[in-house]
Amino acid sequence: MTKRVIVTGGSGLAGKWVVEDLVAHGYEVLNVDRVPMAKGTARTLLTDLTDAGQVFNALASSVKLREFDEDIEPKPIDAVVHFAAIPRIFTTTDNEVFRINVMGTYNVLDAASKLGIKKVILASSETTYGTVFAHRHRDPVYFPLDEDYPVDPMDSYATSKIINEVTAKAFHRRTGMDVYCFRIGNVLDPVDYEKFATWNKDPSLRKRITWSYIDGRDLATACRLGIEKDGLGFEVMNVAADDVSSDLPTAELIKRFYPNVPVKKSMGEFETILSNEKLKRLLGWKQAYKWREQVKK
Ligand SMILES: NC(=O)c1ccc[n+]([C@@H]2O[C@H](COP(=O)([O-])OP(=O)(O)OC[C@H]3O[C@@H](n4cnc5c(N)ncnc54)[C@H](O)[C@@H]3O)[C@@H](O)[C@H]2O)c1
Repeated sequence: MTKRVIVTGGSGLAGKWVVEDLVAHGYEVLNVDRVPMAKGTARTLLTDLTDAGQVFNALASSVKLREFDEDIEPKPIDAVVHFAAIPRIFTTTDNEVFRINVMGTYNVLDAASKLGIKKVILASSETTYGTVFAHRHRDPVYFPLDEDYPVDPMDSYATSKIINEVTAKAFHRRTGMDVYCFRIGNVLDPVDYEKFATWNKDPSLRKRITWSYIDGRDLATACRLGIEKDGLGFEVMNVAADDVSSDLPTAELIKRFYPNVPVKKSMGEFETILSNEKLKRLLGWKQAYKWREQVKK
């Protein structure tokens, strides 16, 4: 049976890959965003997610792309992938980042649970580990950064993401719905592979994000695997490539830029510092797009 999925933020950098991947795999998809998609891969329902009334309407909508189809009656939605957000500090005021991200996510979870939608995948972020938008250099408590880490950021963006994880857990507790929160690493488009020449020349450029990366297409696969895997309840999973986005080995990067951070396990030569073990274990995710292969293309 065709599954119906609503993707929020499908007009954005990361969300467009999720929409494309789901459509390519036979899902019926509705994009809910405040701006249209550049490519019309799915229908966009223009919605402001900070308005609860609009969110309840959107999540009860028909996902059909063509209004002249035989049957356009709204049908139950199987899953929501919630990516819409302000994805960083600096582009709008801190309080707007916080309000939009926190209220948008509350509204999506509230509407999904009250409309009987049983699966929500949320975009959380690697910034929750506290190094990315810290006022100055911060040493994490340990490496690799795994989901057991005591997250303690200082900025409004990462704080909004942690609150969203707490909200997600509360809705799971209330209704039993599956909510998987993806702490996503730095998302790359194919055009971004050109930047590796610069990034490799100066490895300090990606120090704050601990050299994490994830190709948007690999992130989309993780979302689809999450939709297809029922019954995990509430889970937080990092989503990152297997390797660091640097031509320096992981041990060298840590020695140069984070010499005082304890490393809890032995790590592979280029192993990611943003651990993706849980994602692989719970969802069977595998990386398809490695920067070394993409740069050569
Ligand atoms: N890009 C990254 O490297 C990265 C890393 C970690 C996590 N994330 C998270 O992934 C998600 C997607 O990020 P992105 O880089 O694609 O961001 P983006 O800005 O490219 O896309 C976000 C989309 O959300 C929409 N949006 C924002 N506010 C909205 C509102 N009130 N109502 C409806 N739509 C709204 C925007 O119009 C946009 O299309 C975000 O939740 C972000 O925090 C991104």
